Amino acid sequence: MTVSIVGTGYVGLTTGAVLAAAGNKVYCIDVDAKKIETIQSGKSHFYEPGLDKLIAEGIKSKKLIPTTRYRNAIPYSDIAIICVGTPSKGDGSVDLSYIYSAGISIHQYMKDELVIAQKSTVPVGTGRKLERILRNGNKSKKFNVVSCPEFLAEGSAVFDTLNMDRIVVGGDSEKAKQKMITLLESIDKFSSKINTKELTKYSTVYKNKVIYHNKTPFKDRVISVGLESAELIKVTANAFLTTKISFANSIARICDQTGADILEVMEGVGRDERIGKAFLYAGLGWGGGCFPKDTAGLIYHADEVGFDFKILKAVVDLNNSQVLYVIRKVHKILGADLEGKKISVLGLSFKPGTSDVRISPSIRLVNNLIRKGAKVTVYDPKALQEAKADIDGSVHYANNVDEAVKGSELAILATDWPELVDIDFKKLKKIFKRPNLLDARNKWDKEQAIKFGYKYFGIGR
Ligand code: UGA
Repeated sequence: MTVSIVGTGYVGLTTGAVLAAAGNKVYCIDVDAKKIETIQSGKSHFYEPGLDKLIAEGIKSKKLIPTTRYRNAIPYSDIAIICVGTPSKGDGSVDLSYIYSAGISIHQYMKDELVIAQKSTVPVGTGRKLERILRNGNKSKKFNVVSCPEFLAEGSAVFDTLNMDRIVVGGDSEKAKQKMITLLESIDKFSSKINTKELTKYSTVYKNKVIYHNKTPFKDRVISVGLESAELIKVTANAFLTTKISFANSIARICDQTGADILEVMEGVGRDERIGKAFLYAGLGWGGGCFPKDTAGLIYHADEVGFDFKILKAVVDLNNSQVLYVIRKVHKILGADLEGKKISVLGLSFKPGTSDVRISPSIRLVNNLIRKGAKVTVYDPKALQEAKADIDGSVHYANNVDEAVKGSELAILATDWPELVDIDFKKLKKIFKRPNLLDARNKWDKEQAIKFGYKYFGIGR
């Protein structure tokens, strides 16, 4: 098929590169000429494992065509997929202006019949409104709006796109939905022919390594629903995942007071197949470009339709207090006065496998420590440059873990990059001033750390 994708962020560019690899002709449209130039040169404008290779291949085979112009792409497309940003406004509501302006531009340049698929995360009702706006335009144009929510996570975006656990497609027209399903089936067929193992390094940090096409046929993973339901599935999934994490963080606080170990507790709880182990990892809390925005959006939207979403409000409140909870632990370890104390913070991105620092709990932690007068050294495998704009004050940016912990009185694991989890405790011990470890992701090997003479502190363990 020939497809146009509007927006080259994590969702748009990854989807585009994977669809091109699966044999489709894909136009990637973005109004930002710099991003388009970077893609044209065979690279992504953000770090995402495995993506550069797919882009380079797509550009070489001419299956992937970056452009700033709708008119060069839309008239030739069977499907146009909207993947633009939906930023949060200050009050929690979602700015949908990019969705509507993308829709209007698509409508302006479309010929014949077109499926307009909406992949950006939006409040329920957005697709219907988009449809209304476009129907008020040139009445002779035939199009169908479908919602096709995206479930990929950053750091494992390519793997998740190739490895769909479910394919949710919502809309009124069965024909339009089927077209979208056929397009996504091309990805599934392609992924069953390649080895995706090398892409799983970060996908397994929070999830199990399941290859879905080995388990369930494609057609049984398709969930064909109404337009509104599809939109609500997406935000509900994210809200539920944040609830699991905040729940685990709450239980961790009880563990801290009672001597129970959160890892043992969640192992025992998560083995119940009705609950599952995923997203029950207690730590520094959740962040990123999706969870904070989507929870705020759902709370706001629920309020608009007359429902006070108290559970979700509590989930957000708990998360907002999680960094402060960790700061209290820092005081317990180093005392009330942090002035001049050298603290190393390992990991700055909001999660491993990405250079994305949007609403990163780790950076909130760093900024808190700076305000308390600590001498902070930071290290991250990919996000050092990106973090600079968000760090409010002077810190030392280290080039590696050794440099970060040298002379330190406390090292904090703030983002659970596998390369920061898997450190050489024995070797590093000699260069600490005081060998204190605060494992704010509960990923360091507690027994090993204690064996090599460290004082170990976790979250709920
Ligand atoms: C999330 C969802 O997981 C995706 O399914 C969804 O498609 C995406 O949002 C989106 O809406 O676009 P993402 O934001 O990339 O993906 O990151 P996650 O892997 O969900 O992690 C989010 C945050 O939760 C991170 O800060 C992570 O450290 C934290 N987390 C995750 C925990 O603290 N504990 C856990 O057990 C899991």
